[in-house]
Amino acid sequence: MSTIPAPLDPPSRVLMGPGPSDVPPEILQALARPCIGHLDPAFVEIMDQNKGMLRQVFGTDNAMTLPMSGTGSAGMETLLVNLVEPGDRVLVGVNGVFGGRMCEVARRCGAEVVRVEAPWGRALSPDAFRARAEGRRFKLVAVVHAETSTGARTDLQGFRELADDLGALLAVDCVTSLGGIPVELDAHGVDAAYSGTQKCLSVPPGLAPVSLSERAMAAVAARRSPVASWYLDLSLLASYWGGQKRAYHHTAPVNMNYALHAGLRLALEEGLPTRYARHQLHAAALRQGLLALGLDLPVPEAERLPQLTLVAAPAGVDEAAVRAFLLQQVGLEIGGGLGDFAGKAWRIGLMGASCSRRHVSLCLSGLHQALRAQGWKAPHDPLSAAAGVYEARVAP
Ligand SMILES: Cc1ncc(COP(=O)(O)O)c(C=O)c1O
Repeated sequence: MSTIPAPLDPPSRVLMGPGPSDVPPEILQALARPCIGHLDPAFVEIMDQNKGMLRQVFGTDNAMTLPMSGTGSAGMETLLVNLVEPGDRVLVGVNGVFGGRMCEVARRCGAEVVRVEAPWGRALSPDAFRARAEGRRFKLVAVVHAETSTGARTDLQGFRELADDLGALLAVDCVTSLGGIPVELDAHGVDAAYSGTQKCLSVPPGLAPVSLSERAMAAVAARRSPVASWYLDLSLLASYWGGQKRAYHHTAPVNMNYALHAGLRLALEEGLPTRYARHQLHAAALRQGLLALGLDLPVPEAERLPQLTLVAAPAGVDEAAVRAFLLQQVGLEIGGGLGDFAGKAWRIGLMGASCSRRHVSLCLSGLHQALRAQGWKAPHDPLSAAAGVYEARVAP
């Protein structure tokens, strides 16, 4: 006998993990607007507006800037499958999960992959890349700007010069950085970047904004072999996402593009500098609160991302039980550690709409309760420590 499940009733959560982040009502309302045809002139206008707003958030004039249909990983694959051909040599920074994933995708594209390793939780530098390059030429240098698996930020300064020295294009993973810290593709001379919607843009997962320079698109045009993925082939997508007359390629997820439109408008209305300052402020308050709880933050201060904080679970504390307590008793999601930090750390996100004083306070008090339940004695009051940061900022 067939059964019909009850109507959907997902729980309401406060999302402070590594993504997705809380989705504001304006964006949820945009998702619920009427679906129209993907070649309807009204939708084509929305596509054009999304491209324009993405350029502003990415800090670029790149004509080839668009949201790929798929999650952040589709953005990663788009860049690699278009820019890398069998036999090409690529130099990839690996200081966490996502650098490792780029290596695997590049390997599947037939590349000769050279890994530049840094300890998990540390940033990478152009010097580390240069040392691993050992004077060889490369097709592509790839780096993760904001490593979500550890909360480490790699400064993009100096990577253009490095890529020029190696004769390479420069590709950057901006999945967790876009909308949370400055990305500024053109100022940093980045040739190709990809992102995702569910982190600091606070749009549900489902689209992967990408941006490619003229130099990167010239490399796509000069390929010796066709792009192995038909779906992700940018030369085919160019006439779906650009030009006077749009040619059908695939059916873009219409309502997800509405959501992206709403999310980008919110980011630009807030103002990017204000948005970045908001992430810095609440991250500073969260960290003071965590230190007051007696917890260690393994990423060195100068390399920390404001939108994601790695917190070491103290010896004797069951990290999974703390996360379960927060989810069940407080309705709050935080992330567990990955790779080197699996079972040993938490990842606390302050991304987009999930970055507010309310979020910081809820997380600190929930964590305090969860730790107390396991016998942990906090040396100081975390909420007072966080309040100190807010008071210092608003004082003249
Ligand atoms: C830095 C980074 N790159 C790539 C991805 C992959 O994105 P998605 O999970 O949306 O496919 C993620 C997702 O967390 C990420 O944080």
